[in-house]
Amino acid sequence: MRKLIADIDIVDQSTENEPGIIQNNDASRPVLIPKKMYIESYGCQMNFSDSEIVTSIMLKHGFSTTDTAEDADIIFINTCSIREKAEQTVRRRLAQFNSIKKKNPGVTIGVLGCMAERLKTKLLEEEKIVDLVAGPDAYRDIPNLLQEVEDGQKAVNTFLSREETYADISPVRLNSNGVSAFISIMRGCDNMCSFCVVPFTRGRERSRDPHSIIQEATDLFKKGFREVTLLGQNVDSYKWSAEESPDTKLPIKKHGTENFVTFAQLLEMVARIDPMLRVRFSTSHPKDITDEVLYTIKRNQNICNYIHLPVQSGSSRILKLMNRTYNREWYLAKISSIKEILGDECGISSDMITGFCSETEEEHQETLSLMNEVKFDFSYMFHYSERPGTLAAKKYQDDINPGTKKRRLQEIITKQQEHSLERNQGSINQLHQVLIEGYSKRSKDFLRGRNSANKVVIFPKGNHQKGSYANVLITGCSAATLLGSAI
Ligand code: SAH
Ligand code: SF4
Ligand code: F3S
Repeated sequence: MRKLIADIDIVDQSTENEPGIIQNNDASRPVLIPKKMYIESYGCQMNFSDSEIVTSIMLKHGFSTTDTAEDADIIFINTCSIREKAEQTVRRRLAQFNSIKKKNPGVTIGVLGCMAERLKTKLLEEEKIVDLVAGPDAYRDIPNLLQEVEDGQKAVNTFLSREETYADISPVRLNSNGVSAFISIMRGCDNMCSFCVVPFTRGRERSRDPHSIIQEATDLFKKGFREVTLLGQNVDSYKWSAEESPDTKLPIKKHGTENFVTFAQLLEMVARIDPMLRVRFSTSHPKDITDEVLYTIKRNQNICNYIHLPVQSGSSRILKLMNRTYNREWYLAKISSIKEILGDECGISSDMITGFCSETEEEHQETLSLMNEVKFDFSYMFHYSERPGTLAAKKYQDDINPGTKKRRLQEIITKQQEHSLERNQGSINQLHQVLIEGYSKRSKDFLRGRNSANKVVIFPKGNHQKGSYANVLITGCSAATLLGSAI
């Protein structure tokens, strides 16, 4: 039974239904019940951020939300294609939704995001229960697509845009802790890393209007949020052309005849909203991160001392095959600049891929030796998964056997754990400013927050509150967490 959400008297039974509204024509008195949407997200933070945009669009069009799939009229799954495993997870989930659809054939199942974009109409052939497919730039069209489904058709929009940034849409924060939020500052990616599907699923890179970014961050701060993370696949190539924006208050950089706002300038503008608002960003690309960004971090106490700088491999030959456009030496020089300008306490994390096409044992050892030189605080580590349509799939053979890929992966994971522990031990007896995000998962007597370098810190609750800052003396650690007490 659907719950009655709205009880509205003024219904013209002769007109067509508004999108998102179910008319209860059986009742003695007409009522309007908003259709309920359930959304589940996979993949990177940008995808989670997109689900908040989709929710905003849906609410504007008269739909409501539910956090139970069984209770929904529309089930959306916002998908990721980055590795084969990510797609398998989505397919398994779709199979589970099948049982819901069997019980309630009226339910609409929509696939959004990167897998929708990659497979397009093929998805409808492969997954019979899917009614709607919408790529990352087609979310404004979802209400129309739902109408098509209502009219008995399957609906698809996987058009990729060169302009869409959803700048004017206020995301509806989902699963928010009320303290930290993500803000998309750009979409797409113009790099062509040979292993990566993102340029195909997210299209060309475009930057969002800085005014709308500042507005969103300011609103979040007013609502009590104390941390924003600026998101993009390659934030260092953020570039907003001043020609599109005659606002003289913007810090405009002149480059030849071109006027534009750079990432470093955007970062500073967000940092100036309020000293109590922490600013983070992700992801930086080693070929593009500038000293200007590093000095901007140094100048602004509220820009966090943490850089996610994915290296992918320690071997220059593999980096060339990956089309990362930097080599080992370039990467290590960037690390030296970071340590020189921001000091050794700056948190540095990475992404790494083992077993890329033709990677030799020596080249794998080069990744381990690079790790020894840098000592990352944290890394996301994967074994190579060939993605159809990418440069690597076309040009190189996926010739490292799965056992070797996994063994190499395990070796870098073990190395990373040693380094994470060592780096955390270096924090003992230091005083860290922690932004409190909530209770520790294990006990309500303890609070959980993060320091500037993005490390999780656990400490006894005392009188401290979520959303405030505490100065915590670090007294112990594991590889994953710092422990301490607030002073
Ligand atoms: N824009 C970011 C990365 C986004 S994807 C950057 O350039 O660093 C996140 C990570 O997934 C990548 O850094 C990479 O380590 C991993 N990844 C991407 N494609 C992959 C593939 N085909 N197989 C395994 N890992 C992959
Ligand atoms: Fe993929 Fe490379 Fe773009 Fe990152 S920079 S999203 S790895 S193509
Ligand atoms: Fe996955 Fe798409 Fe993000 S492929 S990692 S959800 S950009």
